[in-house]
Amino acid sequence: MSTTPNNILEIAGVNKTFGGLHALSDVNLKIEEGETHAIIGPNGAGKSTLLNCCIGRLIPDSGSVTFNGKNMIGMAPHDINHAGMVRIFQTPEIFPDLTLLHNVMIPALAKRDGTFKFNPFKSLASEKAILEEAHATLADFELDKFHDQLAGSISRGDKRRLELAMGIIQHPKLLLLDEPTAGMARHDTNRTIDLLKSERMSHMTKVIIEHDMHVVFSLADRISVLVRGNIITTGTPEEIKNDPKVKEAYLGESEDE
Ligand SMILES: Nc1ncnc2c1ncn2[C@@H]1O[C@H](COP(=O)(O)OP(=O)(O)OP(=O)(O)O)[C@@H](O)[C@H]1O
Ligand SMILES: [Mg+2]
Repeated sequence: MSTTPNNILEIAGVNKTFGGLHALSDVNLKIEEGETHAIIGPNGAGKSTLLNCCIGRLIPDSGSVTFNGKNMIGMAPHDINHAGMVRIFQTPEIFPDLTLLHNVMIPALAKRDGTFKFNPFKSLASEKAILEEAHATLADFELDKFHDQLAGSISRGDKRRLELAMGIIQHPKLLLLDEPTAGMARHDTNRTIDLLKSERMSHMTKVIIEHDMHVVFSLADRISVLVRGNIITTGTPEEIKNDPKVKEAYLGESEDE
């Protein structure tokens, strides 16, 4: 109990069951401001469930989720998002029938106005400041050349980058990424790692759920290991690499490689 870091997110005693299944059992986790915190664990460990409990898509059976000093339990997902906790989903949630530019402008407008009400009589092009920021954000993500294409028509890797751009333009206080490189070829994975390490994103507080250990060890300041709904340990990448509990429960699966 020496110097207390500023915890932007505190998950305390969270339990979540689905029927008889204990998806989360007494989960405690503190995310420090400015860190990149990876959550790893086998399929079905409860990682996405934990994020869903943070962003209001699921309500835990018990426990608390405190973000920026405020209890989030019972708040609606859009209010939690507006408070600054932004999640990038395991399957990209984009608007396939809109252009990339509009995909990025919509969350920016929703953030500014607290809600997005589509007004067919008002052109998005009249939103000059947001239009400029949308172009700049697409450029940061190497997507500006596609700005007038429909989002449904671009590659899977580009869609995932688009979703990242849609998150970043909201200036999140905490970004939650659920498997940001899932299904990507190595080349796209490396581009995503570089983006997450870029000037714009490196100091942003992030929680990253990831199966790809190359991504985890390239990005994480600290790592928590979730196994069957329990966080078995939290530590630096070095500590996690050398933790026999982790080897046994998780990393051990690929040890004989
Ligand atoms: N809505 C739901 N209803 C019933 N069971 C669910 C629901 N959501 C998740 N589960 C179950 O809860 C457990 C944890 O699922 P979760 O999706 O959180 O795992 P995960 O760690 O994200 O896995 P993966 O690495 O495969 O994405 C699994 O056994 C899953 O089948
Ligand atoms: Mg998941």
